[in-house]
Amino acid sequence: MYYIGIDLGTSATKLLLVDESGKIENEVTKEYPLCFPHPGWSEQAPQDWWNACVEGIPELLKGFDKEQVAGIGAGGQMHGLVALDAQDNVIRPAILWNDGRTAEEVDFLNNEIGKHTLSAYTANIAFAGFTAPKILWMKKQEPENFAKIAKIMLPKDYINYMLTGVHSCDYSDASGMLLLDVQNKCWSKEMLDICGVGVEQMPKLYESYEIIGTLTEAAAAQLGLPMGVKVAAGAGDNAAAAVGTGTVGDGSCNISLGTSGTIFISSDKFGVDPNNALHAFAHADGGYHLMGCMLSAASCNKWLCDEILKTKDYAAEQVDITDDKLGNNHVFFLPYLMGERSPINDTNARGTFVGMTMDTTRSDLVQAVLEGVAFAIRDSFEVAKSLGIDIPRSNLCGGGSKSPLWRKIFANVLGIPLDMVKTEQGPGYGGAILAMVGCGLYSSVKEATDALVEVASTTEPDPALTARYEARYQQFRRIYPCLKSLFPELQ
Ligand code: XUL
Repeated sequence: MYYIGIDLGTSATKLLLVDESGKIENEVTKEYPLCFPHPGWSEQAPQDWWNACVEGIPELLKGFDKEQVAGIGAGGQMHGLVALDAQDNVIRPAILWNDGRTAEEVDFLNNEIGKHTLSAYTANIAFAGFTAPKILWMKKQEPENFAKIAKIMLPKDYINYMLTGVHSCDYSDASGMLLLDVQNKCWSKEMLDICGVGVEQMPKLYESYEIIGTLTEAAAAQLGLPMGVKVAAGAGDNAAAAVGTGTVGDGSCNISLGTSGTIFISSDKFGVDPNNALHAFAHADGGYHLMGCMLSAASCNKWLCDEILKTKDYAAEQVDITDDKLGNNHVFFLPYLMGERSPINDTNARGTFVGMTMDTTRSDLVQAVLEGVAFAIRDSFEVAKSLGIDIPRSNLCGGGSKSPLWRKIFANVLGIPLDMVKTEQGPGYGGAILAMVGCGLYSSVKEATDALVEVASTTEPDPALTARYEARYQQFRRIYPCLKSLFPELQ
């Protein structure tokens, strides 16, 4: 049998066809635009995601027996607000996870409702990208649209709806809405009241590996699949990526270097960071996790190369960054191109180069960007360590992890070995694994990842380089506090 894994990303949807042994038989990527209608806003058309599946899935299956497809599972970009009307039509473009328009609503939630109260209701506080502040924004700024809302969905749940006709959401993705009582895995009545929505406007909740339904006649016809194909609830992309790298059970860590950058620590038990700098979310394996999320990670390097250096050859830009240059760069970069979430929670923060001189080279800037992203992940890593969490090693996944140089920088900035798994297709592979569990091929997510996920290579830190990076990190962490009060004036 075959399983289809969907990675509903910010720049593209990646589709994987996986066989029962976990081997990736085929993959297809369909890109779509990301719109920034105002500085700091970020939107996408849900129809583009569905079109990516409608075009991509038949292409994925070309040459394979479609009757052998047993299940589909998706990992999707988190937090995005997809609002449907009573006829299940999309009311307005989705407001995405990296959208910063809700500063006022975040301020209301965190300071008037209060962080302590929010944390008691949901285990989290408000961040600009989370769904609840976006609902409040829509209520105030687009009352005519707000009045039409019949269902509130997350991005991958819109795809699941188009596949099955079922309004569903899994606990890992629902955790990022600030509407879920994460510990008790149910919608928070108090939070729904604060946002002015009723529980009937929310989708039904599932564990990520549970089956929500089978394909509708229309979806089966559009995709060229049999109607009996089962669809798992799926997960937020970070939880799905964690499954895809075997980061399940108690105390494993995964770092994802995609458009966003995240550090994800899995746990059997529910736990909260008392300062809420790290998110306390449910995991796709039935447990929980803590997560720090930076809004621009591999996208910082993409921005520098595409927009500034005008090149698509990212590897060529890294050739001059030789070993002797590591830990010795005099230029620093703050990677806050979309503001920042963890741990500083500052929508006004901006990308910044510091320390350039007349002898600064093009590759010093590239190096500063790669290092700035690693230092910013280290900020969340330090928060986790301050909670007494031991992180002796981590998995690494996402587009940025394909660069051996970036892997080396990360291993030495964090001072831990970093494992790359054989199939580094994080969220899509995790989605396929969730579908396998849902279809009964494995009895648990842990059993599935034990059988399917294998470490392919490890990047070990070098003590001398780790020491050099330690000194640089101590300088890096002093830059943002110096600029913090200036950033709001630059808007
Ligand atoms: C996590 C987050 C991002 C998106 C990226 O909280 O906002 O990692 O899920 O797709």
